[in-house]
Amino acid sequence: FKTIDDMELDGKVVLTRVDVNVPVEDGRVTDATRIDKIVPTIKDIQAKGGIPVLLAHFDRPKGKRVDSMSLKVVLPALEAALGQKVAFADDCIGGPAKRVVAELKRGDVALLENTRFHEGEEKNDPTFAASLGALGGAYVNDAFSAAHRAHASTEALARLLPAGAGRLMEAELKALDAALGNPQRPVMAVVGGAKVSTKLDLLMNLVDKVDHLVIGGGMANTFLVAKGIEVGKSLAERDMADTARAILEKAETGGCTIHLPVDIVVAREFRAGAESEVLPVDQCPADAMILDAGPQTVESLRAAMADCRTLIWNGPLGAFEIEPFDRATNAAAQAAAELTREGRLISVAGGGDTVAALNKAGAAGDFTFISTAGGAFLEWMEGKELPGVAALEAAAR
Ligand code: 3PG
Repeated sequence: FKTIDDMELDGKVVLTRVDVNVPVEDGRVTDATRIDKIVPTIKDIQAKGGIPVLLAHFDRPKGKRVDSMSLKVVLPALEAALGQKVAFADDCIGGPAKRVVAELKRGDVALLENTRFHEGEEKNDPTFAASLGALGGAYVNDAFSAAHRAHASTEALARLLPAGAGRLMEAELKALDAALGNPQRPVMAVVGGAKVSTKLDLLMNLVDKVDHLVIGGGMANTFLVAKGIEVGKSLAERDMADTARAILEKAETGGCTIHLPVDIVVAREFRAGAESEVLPVDQCPADAMILDAGPQTVESLRAAMADCRTLIWNGPLGAFEIEPFDRATNAAAQAAAELTREGRLISVAGGGDTVAALNKAGAAGDFTFISTAGGAFLEWMEGKELPGVAALEAAAR
């Protein structure tokens, strides 16, 4: 695909798809990471004489105008990140958008209202895409985290205008390629989370690609059940045991080592500070539940990690939101951070809870790359083609 460097942008309005779908509480942005990460793209477009007009979605208004889902809420954080005023149009097509765009000069930047206020966005509708496309002379997609959606502003637009990737899109794809596409071996994947059923495709893809696969969280319990180990009242999907066995067999034939807990932290209640004990993995009492991996598991994980060159991480190892069940996640995250600091490991993490867990462990800052993506990161780990990325590649051909 093309990048900003390859594009002729001077004097053009550059429709720039960004992902500013950030957490908001009481009308204020509580985590501006996604906003901060699009700044280089906007500045680089301006430096080439282009005028960035930002297209973005916010939340899921389902094709209707919903006032509580207006992108206005991100304007103050965006202006603070850019250090300049940002013009705002209260519709992304038609008169309001045209009027705002017509007034822009070199050096300016504008944000258009939530693309998902129009049905055509999620339908990837060509007419809606054409209305967006009419506003500009070039298209830059910097929304890796929305690239799993084939929507008008993430997909169709790349076919209507000269198109290229923004800096964040470039950085995300480069990091992901280094982690799984073309990695230095051995590669370890850490996959945690509650359910095997939601990460089935991901596990199936990973056993083919990585040398070590660490399975943690609730989904580890399903694998224990598959191995005939009793897990008491733990969260486990007993109907997925056959699937878990198939994954174990696939790993064995393919030379991927699967790491399951060898010891467990169990409790009778799921609450902060609940009384807990560490037991060998096969001794979970019938009235208790497994809420974390134990210290021996962490030790063997740390040893295996020290022999790896690349780590890709998605999902916590235990019930990390609740102390003391955050210990395995914290210790493993800190081990990864330390190996990365020493230059011995390339570490990439992303998806949903993962970043929160690594932040809580104080480890995120040392990781080689932390993706801004949730769902897109997962789909990419599943080995799926992301429509937003495919469209940029097609545009370059
Ligand atoms: C995200 O927050 O993961 C992206 O902005 C995509 O949002 P969506 O799941 O509503 O498409």
